[in-house]
Amino acid sequence: MSRYVVTGGAGFIGSALVRALLAQGRRVHVIDNLATGNLDNLEELADRITVHEYDIRNYDRIAPVIAGAERVFHLAAIPSVPKSIQQPAPSHEANIDGTFNVFRAAAEGRAGRVIYAASSSAYGDTAVLPKVETMSPRPKSPYAVQKLVGEYYASVFWDCFQLETVSLRFFNVFGPRQDPTSVYSGVLSLFMTCLLERRSPTIFGDGEQSRDFTYVEDVVSLLLKASDAQGVCGKVFNAGNGGRYTLNQTWALLQKIEGVNLPAHYGPPRPGDVRDSQADTTAAVRELGHQPRFTFEQGLRLTLEWYRASLEDKQVAAAGRDSLKI
Ligand code: UD1
Repeated sequence: MSRYVVTGGAGFIGSALVRALLAQGRRVHVIDNLATGNLDNLEELADRITVHEYDIRNYDRIAPVIAGAERVFHLAAIPSVPKSIQQPAPSHEANIDGTFNVFRAAAEGRAGRVIYAASSSAYGDTAVLPKVETMSPRPKSPYAVQKLVGEYYASVFWDCFQLETVSLRFFNVFGPRQDPTSVYSGVLSLFMTCLLERRSPTIFGDGEQSRDFTYVEDVVSLLLKASDAQGVCGKVFNAGNGGRYTLNQTWALLQKIEGVNLPAHYGPPRPGDVRDSQADTTAAVRELGHQPRFTFEQGLRLTLEWYRASLEDKQVAAAGRDSLKI
């Protein structure tokens, strides 16, 4: 049985994909340097998968894992707009050089299809919503440029080297296991932690910026569909839900779900931020069979319950440690 490789498989999207692949009976190999990923995300799967703690910047390490693989899902990245502005070099090296290494290893090692996690940030600010794949990209941050270069490489590796590739532009994915511990964390993971700890979040700007928040299981379904679809190689598809919520609406909805009143703090707008983001899903529906199953509110509720359980587990563990000290 041949290998399914997931780069970034210890991240929150990657680990959800690993679970789905195991459910299909696949043999899964994870490549992850654990910079933002975490082995806890794969905890109960440890004896069913092979984890390679390698960095995608190291071609010699990753090439033998990728060679001959049936499918390669390339999710490893330094996934942050502000980090790419504060520290552009590591972000460039992981997101462009690392991505090139993955495509090169797949082409030279005659792997099957590579499904690449591209980003909605490639669009930048567009005059029209929703955003359609035929619009000209207008990246506003190093991160957006880097993710766009990956798309161009995906398409060129198909055209020049006949490596099967498909790019999916992720739109603000959220869900269980998204790491809330960094200032660079996705906004919903930060909002949820604030909500459960009864703290006010900080909203950058006026909070009227909007996002097409997409539940992780819908993205995983699309990754699997992109892995099997015919006639899609070299192409780029939006991987979004098709909806749009402002941060103010989102924080209000979370407070309503939890039955609390915690007015947000407001800070200066964040450099490189896109104002509005919403996916046109037409091409993904037509060519990949995309069918989002989770409304925003359903996804929020499921994710909130996961954070609540995880917080309770941490509190129980901390209480256990305290009682040992006595
Ligand atoms: C961007 C990309 C997305 C990519 C992601 C990786 C766009 C439209 N999307 O997401 O494709 O996968 O980077 O990180 O460019 N915010 C707050 N308070 C906080 C944290 C964030 O108000 O504490 C705001 C940000 O300023 C931003 C919004 O929330 O306006 C979303 O931020 P974030 O979750 O970091 O994702 P994006 O930058 O939108």
